[in-house]
Amino acid sequence: MRWGWALLTAGTLAMTNVQSGSDERSEALVKANAATRAAMTAAEADPSRPSFHFHAPAQWMNDPNGPIYYQGWYHVFYQFNPYGDQWGNMHWGHARSRDLVDWEHLPVALWPSKSLGEDHVYSGSTFLPPGGKPTIFYTSIGNRAPEQWAAEPLDDQLIGWRKSPANPVLTEKAHGATKIDEWRDPFLFREGGQTYLLTGGSHEGHGVVCVYAASDRGLTKWRFLGELFRHPDANDVECPNIAKVGDRWILLTSSHGKVESFVGRLDLKAMRFESEHRGVLADNSYASQLLRDRNGRLVHLAWVRMSEHHGWNGCLSLPSVLTLAKDGTILRNPLPALTKLRESKTNAGARDVSGEVDLGKEVPGDQWELVLDLDPGTASTIEIRRGTGDSVLSYDARERRLTTHGLAPVTLSGGMLRLHLFVDRSVLDLYTEGGAVTQVADLGTASSGLRLVANGGTAKINRLIAYRLRAARFDPPRGG
Ligand code: FRU
Repeated sequence: MRWGWALLTAGTLAMTNVQSGSDERSEALVKANAATRAAMTAAEADPSRPSFHFHAPAQWMNDPNGPIYYQGWYHVFYQFNPYGDQWGNMHWGHARSRDLVDWEHLPVALWPSKSLGEDHVYSGSTFLPPGGKPTIFYTSIGNRAPEQWAAEPLDDQLIGWRKSPANPVLTEKAHGATKIDEWRDPFLFREGGQTYLLTGGSHEGHGVVCVYAASDRGLTKWRFLGELFRHPDANDVECPNIAKVGDRWILLTSSHGKVESFVGRLDLKAMRFESEHRGVLADNSYASQLLRDRNGRLVHLAWVRMSEHHGWNGCLSLPSVLTLAKDGTILRNPLPALTKLRESKTNAGARDVSGEVDLGKEVPGDQWELVLDLDPGTASTIEIRRGTGDSVLSYDARERRLTTHGLAPVTLSGGMLRLHLFVDRSVLDLYTEGGAVTQVADLGTASSGLRLVANGGTAKINRLIAYRLRAARFDPPRGG
């Protein structure tokens, strides 16, 4: 059946088993749904709202939470405030997708259980225990110290969830005399037949990733093993994620407005992560989550914070695939399935350019993808602008410095400019240096048109392909 997110009422909740067990759940979901629906008209009318980046039906969203591939569907949850377009009232929004490109919104998965003293349902992850069902682990926030809680699915489609009767499954008592501040965002993984849980936090002013070992099969009891990792300079760490790639491990952390990546080795005896390579992943995106797709690829999703609040705020960065280069650099590139969004193609061919090339006719609209391979030649700067003339990015050829709208400049290693860009109304995703440098920018507004400018000399375009992209489908009518 189609879940018909927008049709969610007490009646449909009763028809589905979303309701089973709790009136509080049913009331919370119906209220959340009504408040979200009331904001949809304003959100949909805003021309700056991204169209092919994943976003909530309306209202505020932040971190992606617990993405998982299960029984043919990608499930993505996210920090969601159904009651406003600013941060607050944290719930877990929920959507599913066959390909991470087109989406079906589903009823809110988790809500703050006021009767259990919860005010917010913070970030966390979904874990599939061997032989078990996907289980959510998240941070429960109330008028007390943070606690780690679990939730279990009521059905195989993962539509309805209930809080585990074993909650809290982990409290700060586990730390004994060690005081961990800002303790949250559980992430589970399995290695060597043992299930581990990571949390982010701060210990004596240092950002830390704490690690715990499961001491029962039901994952309701955990033993604190200590600090897996201490951040070299941040004073706290949010949303740690870890994944094994070959004989190395990738540890992602979020602090100070960006996702950082550490590549290194995991010493299972000492339960310590030793970093060998530090980087920034998609500068200006935050609180990312890793997901294994059905082909075993490591997919990266992150939150894009937006400046506008028009009945909506926030989206996810484009799903991207992470691979490791030989030298330990993480390469982040767009998920191949995103090519489904392409509607029309302009191949500007190889040619010299001095001054401005206007691609506004070939690529009308404010949703496009650009693949550019350019030798700056004698040009001093190269710019990509939108129709109204605002600069999306500029490249200083002498300094090899790339400056993307609103972000700190980065120095590129090669003299050639090889860019893969996606502009979706007010959001830009940039991939360059083969995926070693990636950024996400909030352009603020939408603007039609696309221009390439070479200043101060002649640049040589080796390849310039532009695609007009369609909007992603949300709520498609498919069976479930
Ligand atoms: C990261 C974060 C998490 C927290 C959540 C609350 O953006 O601060 O640490 O769980 O957002 O919405």
